[in-house]
Amino acid sequence: MTKFHRQYMITMKDIIQEGHPILRTKCKELTFPLTDEDQFELDCMLQYLRNSQHPQIARRYHLRPGTGLSANQIGLNKRMFVARYVDEQVIHEYKFINPKIVSHSTNITFLPEGEGCLSVNRHVIGHVPRYEWIKVDAYNEFGERLVYSFKGYGSILMQHEIDHLNGIIFYDRINLTSPYLGF
Ligand code: NI
Repeated sequence: MTKFHRQYMITMKDIIQEGHPILRTKCKELTFPLTDEDQFELDCMLQYLRNSQHPQIARRYHLRPGTGLSANQIGLNKRMFVARYVDEQVIHEYKFINPKIVSHSTNITFLPEGEGCLSVNRHVIGHVPRYEWIKVDAYNEFGERLVYSFKGYGSILMQHEIDHLNGIIFYDRINLTSPYLGF
């Protein structure tokens, strides 16, 4: 019996915090078809994001709101993550397996307010430079290989999550001598 079974509800106690070596691990690729275990884990992860974005549920279970969660953030050495965000009033939900950035803009962007992370329970100042747009080659949970394009917030979020799968935390990319990008 694994921890993240069909009805398991992920809460903050399941989310690995900075300092743990799994967050510095380059995660292993998955093979298809996914196991039931992989599927349940992905479902639980996406459900965490939904719950955390629901004000009443988030308050009741003390969930920090998040828009992305990678498998190593719940202790799994697996190359997969989930994302959920609203862009132009449309809800976007993704379960990505073995994602890869196959092309990107030369232009750099950043979130003016900086980035946050469910595994970093403190405010970190500074801009995180990200590609303005990216193309991601990934598999969905059914093993279908798809190429997705992202811009704006989605692009930044996907880069943050793919970084997690490579053992990179957002603040690694902040320039310590000049943390604010001046443009
Ligand atoms: Ni994060």
